[in-house]
Amino acid sequence: MAKTKTAYVCTDCGADYTRWLGQCQECHAWNTISEFRQAKTPARQDPFSGFSGQTTPKVQTLDAIDLTDLPRFSSGFAEFDRVLGGGIVPGSAILIGGEPGAGKSTLLLQTMCTLAANMEALYVTGEESLQQVAMRAKRLGLATNKLKMLSETSVENICAIASTEKPKIMVIDSIQVMHISDIQSAPGSVSQVRETAAYLTRFAKQNHVAMLLVGHVTKDGSLAGPKVLEHCIDCSIMLEGSTDSRFRTLRGNKNRFGAVNELGVFAMTGTGLKEVSNPSAIFLSRSQEQTAGSIVMVLWEGTRPLLVEIQALVDHSALGNPRRVAVGAEQNRLSMLLAILHRHGGLQMNDQDVFVNVVGGIKVTETSIDLALLLALVSSFRDRALPQDLVVFGEVGLSGEIRPVPSGQERINEAAKHGFKRAIVPIANAPKHAIEGMEVIGVKNLSEALEVI
Ligand code: TYD
Ligand code: MG
Repeated sequence: MAKTKTAYVCTDCGADYTRWLGQCQECHAWNTISEFRQAKTPARQDPFSGFSGQTTPKVQTLDAIDLTDLPRFSSGFAEFDRVLGGGIVPGSAILIGGEPGAGKSTLLLQTMCTLAANMEALYVTGEESLQQVAMRAKRLGLATNKLKMLSETSVENICAIASTEKPKIMVIDSIQVMHISDIQSAPGSVSQVRETAAYLTRFAKQNHVAMLLVGHVTKDGSLAGPKVLEHCIDCSIMLEGSTDSRFRTLRGNKNRFGAVNELGVFAMTGTGLKEVSNPSAIFLSRSQEQTAGSIVMVLWEGTRPLLVEIQALVDHSALGNPRRVAVGAEQNRLSMLLAILHRHGGLQMNDQDVFVNVVGGIKVTETSIDLALLLALVSSFRDRALPQDLVVFGEVGLSGEIRPVPSGQERINEAAKHGFKRAIVPIANAPKHAIEGMEVIGVKNLSEALEVI
C-alpha cells in the first residue's frame, strides 16, 4: 500500500493547513477543519498510465498545441449544453451538484442513454442497484441497448475497467459513495471525496474521457461535496429547485470552457426531465387580476434575458423586532433597500413586517432586482396595484440614484416580445431609438421612479 500523509482541510472553503485549527483562517468558519489523509501515489506508478501511452512532458508554445482533439459534443439537451458553454469537452471533469432528489441521476441517465447511441458510454452507479437504474430507464422510455452499466464503488476498480472498456464519456453516481484503498476514512469524508475525485479527474485527463461526477449537497450547500472539489474539476454545475416544485434550474458555478452564470431550465415530469426553451413564459404565468405588491422584472442570466415576477408583502408587525424575509433574493439587499426607501423616499417601514419573494423558486443574485423590489414594496405598503403591462429593472445606489445594468436594450426587447407596454429603466439604459409598442421611461433617481408610478 502506498504511504499516506496527513493534512488538514476546511470542509467549507477547501483551504489546506498543516495542523488542526478551530477556525479556518480563509473563510473564518468555526469547526470546519478536519483531518485528511492524502495518498502519496507517484504519477508514474498510476495503474492506468500505461494505457494512455504517457511520454516525458515537453515544453512548447501555445500556438503549437494541437487543438484537433478538442471539439465539444452535445449532451442532447440544449439547456445542458448552454450551461456547459456549448457542449461537453472531451477529457473534462464536470461536477453535477444538487440536493438529494433534485434529479441529478435522472438528468444524467437521460443524457447518457442519448449519447450512447453515438459513442462508448459508461454509467457507474454506486448508490442505486443496477435493477433500479434499469427500471427507471425502462419507465422513462429510454434507449437502453447501448449504454454500459457498472455497479462499483472502488475508484481503482472503476478506472481499471474503464481502461479496457475505453468509454468516451463516464458518469460516477455519486462521488460521496466512492472510495480509494489508500485512505482509511469512510466514503463521503473530506479525504475520500478529495482523493477519489482527484484520481478520477486524472484518469479523465490522461485518457480523454469526459467524466461527469455527481455530488450531493445539503440544504446549506456544504458537506464534503462540491466546495472541497472545486479546485480539481473543470466545471461545477448545480441542479437547483425544491422537490415540491416542478421546475429545476441548472446553473454553472465554475467553468473552464465557457461563461458562468448561464441558466438552464428543466421541468420534472412523469417521464423524466424535459427542457423548457421559453422559461419567461412559465415564470410569468400570473393571474389576470391586478394585485398590490407584484411586479415583473427582466433578469439577465448569462447570455439571455429572463422575465420573473417579484412579490412583496408589507404588513403591520405585532413584534417588537419586525420580520424581514427574502425568498429568492438577498436578505442584506432587502435591508439596504428599506434604508434607502426611508432616507430618499420618505417611507418608514420600521413597524412593518416585510416579505419578498421571487416567483417560480429561482434565486436572483443580480443587482438589477433593486428597482423591482423597491417598487413592489411601495406598491404593497400603499396597497395600490401596479399596471399589469409594466416591467422594470435597475440597480439602486445608496444615495438613491438609479444605476444602469448590462444589456439594457436586450432586456427591453425581451419584455416587448412578451407583450409588455411600459418599462421603467435607469436613464442610461433607455434606448436611443423608440421600440415599437413599448413606452420606455428612463429614471435618474428614486424620487423620479416613485413619481412615475
Ligand atoms: P433523482 O434523479 O433520483 O435525484 P438525485 O439523483 O438528484 O438524488 O430524482 C429523484 C426525484 O425525481 C424523485 O423524487 C422523483 C422525481 N422523478 C419524477 O418526478 N419523474 C421521473 O420520471 C423521475 C425519474 C423522477
Ligand atoms: Mg441519485
